[in-house]
Amino acid sequence: FDPDYDASSTDHDANVRKAERIVAKAGTMVANGYRIQQGKQPLESKPEHTTAQNFLYLMLGEEADPQTVELFDASLTLYAEHTFNASTFACRVTVATLSDLYSGIVTGIGTLRGPLHGGANEEAMKMLLEIGTPENAQAWVDDALANKKKIMGFGHREYKKGDSRAIYLTRLAKALGIGKGKPEFGQVADILEKTMLERKNLHPNVDFPAAYAYYLLGIPTELYTPIFVTARVAGYAAHAVEQLDNNRLIRPKAIYEGSRNLPYVPLADR
Ligand SMILES: CC(C)(COP(=O)(O)OP(=O)(O)OC[C@H]1O[C@@H](n2cnc3c(N)ncnc32)[C@H](O)[C@@H]1OP(=O)(O)O)[C@@H](O)C(=O)NCCC(=O)NCCS
Repeated sequence: FDPDYDASSTDHDANVRKAERIVAKAGTMVANGYRIQQGKQPLESKPEHTTAQNFLYLMLGEEADPQTVELFDASLTLYAEHTFNASTFACRVTVATLSDLYSGIVTGIGTLRGPLHGGANEEAMKMLLEIGTPENAQAWVDDALANKKKIMGFGHREYKKGDSRAIYLTRLAKALGIGKGKPEFGQVADILEKTMLERKNLHPNVDFPAAYAYYLLGIPTELYTPIFVTARVAGYAAHAVEQLDNNRLIRPKAIYEGSRNLPYVPLADR
């Protein structure tokens, strides 16, 4: 139920209320949706919980320990907003037609899903599971590079000298692995990081440490990208409100570079 359903798409106050409701509900929808998928009953959110605590409580069905909450909270914070990334840009394009804020968020989610963007965290985890052990890592990455495979969770359009979000989350993720007596993912990561830097001058992006950190926290791989969404809706909503406050249609020009002045060939002669 949306009490602001009939509000104009440029009504600032209504948009802020919509944004607050989306940010508040996104994690609950994903975590309780997961419970329902597992044949479990949805749980009531606890108002005293932070967003991170609440998500983990709903997903696990019990209170999470402080280290888990700290890491998960850090990942949500790092994922929450990242200027004109593909999905936020797509969200702004949608609302710039004076469509509504919800449609902008849906556009953003559809764009985030791809493996070159938010879907990279799930793909990075599949890759780490395929590699399996630190002993396999060097041969695996050598083979992948020789076959011109993309190594998911590495590279970034903007950060050519390293993703500051990844540096922070890598520290937490590797410490978590050691703390849980499962340092193997961190050791595989060390080999991939070194090789990718030496051979391709590429650094890990935030999706790489997020992948094995979530795995170590017991989060199912299929929730990684939806979790990214629960954080990034804050960024989408803020951008959408800003766009609608001072709107102009976003309509890039295309420059035609094909052949010109071609003779017309009738259909029958083609
Ligand atoms: C994020 C990404 C799309 C940025 O792309 P981009 O800015 O267009 O980077 P480029 O395609 O110009 O990359 C330059 C070179 O590095 C290579 N490269 C980039 N990322 C690579 C990766 N993850 N693994 C292997 N090679 C990679 C490209 O193939 C290209 O090589 P070439 O010059 O021999 O063709 C890209 O790095 C990528 O696909 N990464 C994996 C997916 C991912 O982790 N996405 C999450 C981003 S936060």
